[in-house]
Amino acid sequence: MSADIFSSVRLGDIELANRVVMAPMTRDRAGPLDEPTELMVEYYRQRASAGLIITEGTQPSPAGKGYWRTPGIHSPEQVEGWRKVADAVHEQGGRIAMQLMHVGRASVRANKAADAETVAPSAIASPDPIPGPDGVPVPTEMPRALEASDIPQVIAQYVAAARNAIAAGLDGVELHCASGYLPMQFLSSNSNQRGDAYGGSAENRVRFVVETLSALAAAIGPGRVGFRICPGVTFNGMADADPAETYATLLRAVDGMGLAWCHLIHIPNAGFDALDLVRANWSGAVIENCGLTLDKAQGLIADGRADAVSFGYAFIGNPDLVERFRNGIPLAKADRATFYTGYGDDAKGYTDYPRAG
Ligand SMILES: Cc1cc2nc3c(=O)[nH]c(=O)nc-3n(C[C@H](O)[C@H](O)[C@H](O)COP(=O)(O)O)c2cc1C
Repeated sequence: MSADIFSSVRLGDIELANRVVMAPMTRDRAGPLDEPTELMVEYYRQRASAGLIITEGTQPSPAGKGYWRTPGIHSPEQVEGWRKVADAVHEQGGRIAMQLMHVGRASVRANKAADAETVAPSAIASPDPIPGPDGVPVPTEMPRALEASDIPQVIAQYVAAARNAIAAGLDGVELHCASGYLPMQFLSSNSNQRGDAYGGSAENRVRFVVETLSALAAAIGPGRVGFRICPGVTFNGMADADPAETYATLLRAVDGMGLAWCHLIHIPNAGFDALDLVRANWSGAVIENCGLTLDKAQGLIADGRADAVSFGYAFIGNPDLVERFRNGIPLAKADRATFYTGYGDDAKGYTDYPRAG
């Protein structure tokens, strides 16, 4: 009999009770020290019946922060906050991995600590404005191009962050290599104009991600490390000359490391089928994402095209998404106006969506 989304599955070292994953979602509700708050604990607790929660993008270092009120995992207060989140999810029988998100050049000065640098593979600013503390989009800063000698330190910050996540009790980490943030800035030919071993050919442009994943795997075990990609996306000024070649090269380079999953944001307009590309170049587990319905998700699992499926929007308005799917209960719509912050009433559109039953 073929598997369905309600069946258990193992992703690396992590045992999931079902295959419905909560996709990482930035919600801009961290506290003044970029620490998870009690409200965030409640938000994740409510959604713990997902087979796996992947947290909102979390900065490994002050320089990795790009958006207002996003959480970090580089200070004791942040580790303590995440411990409460992980405990709450585990008490409900759920699993939780942290998405490590370093924004690189996709950053606004007013959103981060005064002494935090803005860095990228090359000194090329992101063309897409980003909301500042008042929610109004402003231009991003010109980044400083990382020296080759800076790169080990950036990777060491990711490693320290992953160790902190494990120390806080989370089950694993996911390296965010999509959406035009630092790892994707290395991958993409237009944002990476380096002349050294980290730029130029696809083999060179994937090097930063390969070295980071390898360091994360060495630090916390490969079975607790996943990564997220979105071949062909143009968000935050990405324009790769040949994304199919870039991602095939990346996938082949990290296949065989024993990593826990490849999480694919599968966009329809990449010019090729990204799931076919992943399947052809990667033998590990795949979490498929983007615009899925229950039917599509069931089909992907039944056909063995994906090992798990993730949902973003649907988890915002439906904390009990898995139970709704299981019982055929219609889904509630999420309110876009409160996606990123309640501006004075953080609970609004965050922890106040009711369960169906
Ligand atoms: C409010 C919001 C915040 C998001 N933040 C992140 C993020 O921090 N990291 C990430 O990788 N993707 C992020 N995404 C993308 C989602 O993880 C997901 O890929 C996207 O919503 C498509 O899946 P869906 O069609 O099921 O919603 C975000 C999406 C939304 C709606």
